[in-house]
Amino acid sequence: MKREELARIDRRQFLGIAAGAVAYSAFPARVLGANDRIRIGLIGAGDRGQQVLKDALAQPGVECVALADVYTLRHDQVKALVPAVAMYDDPRRLLERKDIDAVIIATPLHLHARYFLESLAAGKDMYCEKTMTWDIPEAVACRDAAAKSKQVVQIGLQHESSGELADARKWYEQGMLGKVTMVESWMSRNTPHGHGQWYRAIPPDCNLAHVNWDLFLVNRPKTAFDANQFINWRLFWEFSGGNVTENMVHQIAWIMTALNLPLPDAADMMGGVYSEKDGRQVPDTIAVTFEFPDDLTVLWQSTFSNSRFGLGERILGSDGTVEHVSGATDMVTGKYTGGINYYPEKTSRADGATVAGSSPGQNHMANWLECIRTRNQKTNAPIEIGYKSAVAAHMANMAYRQKRRITQQEAMAAKPEY
Ligand SMILES: NC(=O)c1ccc[n+]([C@@H]2O[C@H](COP(=O)([O-])OP(=O)(O)OC[C@H]3O[C@@H](n4cnc5c(N)ncnc54)[C@H](O)[C@@H]3O)[C@@H](O)[C@H]2O)c1
Repeated sequence: MKREELARIDRRQFLGIAAGAVAYSAFPARVLGANDRIRIGLIGAGDRGQQVLKDALAQPGVECVALADVYTLRHDQVKALVPAVAMYDDPRRLLERKDIDAVIIATPLHLHARYFLESLAAGKDMYCEKTMTWDIPEAVACRDAAAKSKQVVQIGLQHESSGELADARKWYEQGMLGKVTMVESWMSRNTPHGHGQWYRAIPPDCNLAHVNWDLFLVNRPKTAFDANQFINWRLFWEFSGGNVTENMVHQIAWIMTALNLPLPDAADMMGGVYSEKDGRQVPDTIAVTFEFPDDLTVLWQSTFSNSRFGLGERILGSDGTVEHVSGATDMVTGKYTGGINYYPEKTSRADGATVAGSSPGQNHMANWLECIRTRNQKTNAPIEIGYKSAVAAHMANMAYRQKRRITQQEAMAAKPEY
């Protein structure tokens, strides 16, 4: 069968699932009493899935009853953590179980939307890792399905639960920044020579005897087994959105929430594979520019061969600046070594004082679990910010891949690639 034909068949299945999500998801799988344990299933039990699972198990009243992963190594790893866990390769088998209340989705990016929609259709609450989807049509389908659903959705944008975001938002809402026309943001990392950022060694048992390769490719054209693509999926466009969906998405979500921004009007992105010449497709050196309505430009830049300035955001307003800076290694944990401060612009606030951030952060996982118990859909990273940050990230990648500025209208009209 031809690549296009396969893609069309999967697209029809995908849209069918999207419709199903609307039909079934009005009912949570089980009504939880105050003392009931929340029973969780893990879909995609790799590095991040295991980390998020540990975060969940550290909270009271949670148990992990099942996992679904296409690689037996992951079964062994999670079994060591949760000996009684039931194990599947196909997430659909996990989703069929009526005794599972909620799922964590931490598969590679190209599978997020598929399991997002199937989980809603099965009536499960959901913690879905960022970026919410691989492309814009999927983001629209997930947003629409979630809007019609009663499920509690948290996107794995953990910085949305941070105290620094609460500080930035408060200062902005109080008018301390005046008119904001520019945001500068950046994320920089480095690795020893000869070891590309993100590259993972292939485990010795990563072969067809231990990996359900067809299920990894369930919504992609079938190709011969490729252990490197399976383990290092982040480096290939077919499965990943590169650094924009891996890291920028956290910061653009943070900026959008701090300033209460809608979708960007336009995006541009330049850069290339400059430092990590290991066969990867996604760029390691990137400069993104977004135009937002009402006179705002947002910049994000990233490199994988210099970590001097770590990561941060500077929100530049006519009456003040918010500077949020942190070390190089805290993107994953959400723990900041820098901090957040407000600095008045002396030209317009001569008697204004510098203010240090003081708002407490929240535990992102605990917030989701609490919302499940109270049936509150307003999680700290709800569907809206998952949607907006995904669209922004995909607009940037479209600009890079098409080598031109992309408007929101063009981006929203784009047809699915698969
Ligand atoms: N929020 C954060 O800070 C953060 C940090 C790291 C990763 N992530 C996100 O988490 C996700 C996973 O990243 P990772 O580093 O853990 O990747 P990974 O490759 O380590 O894990 C992915 C797992 O999914 C499994 N898988 C593949 N196809 C599957 C299928 N059809 N059904 C079930 N399982 C399948 C793989 O076997 C693997 O174990 C990505 O979307 C990534 O962007 C988020």
